Amino acid sequence: MFKVTFQRYLTMIEQFLAQLSWDKDILNQSMHYSLIGGGKRIRPVLALASAESVGGDPETILPVAISLELIHTYSLIHDDLPAMDNDDYRRGRLSNHKVFGEANAILAGDALLTYAFELLADPGVGQPERQLRIIREVAVAVGKDGMVGGQVADVAGEGQMLTLGEIEKIHKGKTGALLTASARLGGILAGGTEQQVRALTDYAQALGLAFQIKDDILDVVGNSEILGKPAGSDFRQGKSTYVSLLGLEGAEYQLHAQIQKAQAALKPLDEGAIFLSELAYYIEQRQH
Ligand code: IPE
Ligand code: IPE
Ligand code: MG
Ligand code: MG
Ligand code: MG
Repeated sequence: MFKVTFQRYLTMIEQFLAQLSWDKDILNQSMHYSLIGGGKRIRPVLALASAESVGGDPETILPVAISLELIHTYSLIHDDLPAMDNDDYRRGRLSNHKVFGEANAILAGDALLTYAFELLADPGVGQPERQLRIIREVAVAVGKDGMVGGQVADVAGEGQMLTLGEIEKIHKGKTGALLTASARLGGILAGGTEQQVRALTDYAQALGLAFQIKDDILDVVGNSEILGKPAGSDFRQGKSTYVSLLGLEGAEYQLHAQIQKAQAALKPLDEGAIFLSELAYYIEQRQH
């Protein structure tokens, strides 16, 4: 059942992405290159599933769910730049800047972020007050106190031995904030109660941290072919990660603890949360 539901969400997401039109110029081609193919689409899946978990129709929030994938893709393009993680492969292909050059990669990221806000403001997505609330939440989640702030701290921490608390804070910023916003906006737009949105928030905060711990683990034990990006990147860049600090076993332990925390947080959602609970398990087990 999990696979069927996951596939149903993926089909909605891929169909929406496929019907966006792209001009032939280099900016459009560069945006499209990174967006299409290879991504797991976890953020839009989380938004659609969260909407459905509180009884909403995922179809109605699709443009907003897609906006999360645009923001995520922009963050990956910039993350791979020589000035940041300096990685040449992403989603099984050359990184954006290796194909289009650094200037175009920076600008494609900028344009994807901007395009995301166009989709967030799409007319016809839920009640205007709810929509306004989530636009603001997404902006906060991916800005200086969220994703970008986390990325800055991540880069600043290179070559340093950070504490677990510091690494946790980076992970919650660079990765957790957007995942948390994804779940919240699904719940909010679908008209979930404050208690339901609270449960989705607690779930996604733990899931977001788990997601990045698993990413750290895969950087050490993963296979570059399967990952679609170079393994060993963190070591090369001198990053402090859960694995560099705690070892593989310690990181696995923390991962499992966060997955259990995420699943426990779903209690108030009852039956509605079966998919989300299985999604947490999928994230713990994933190989890419
Ligand atoms: C990679 O994200 C970057 C992190 C925040 C860990 P994903 O693992 O979701 O990458 P894609 O979208 O599937 O390529
Ligand atoms: C990236 O974290 C987080 C964002 C892109 C915001 P990582 O640098 O660990 O992601 P990967 O491993 O390159 O996908
Ligand atoms: Mg990085
Ligand atoms: Mg990286
Ligand atoms: Mg990584």
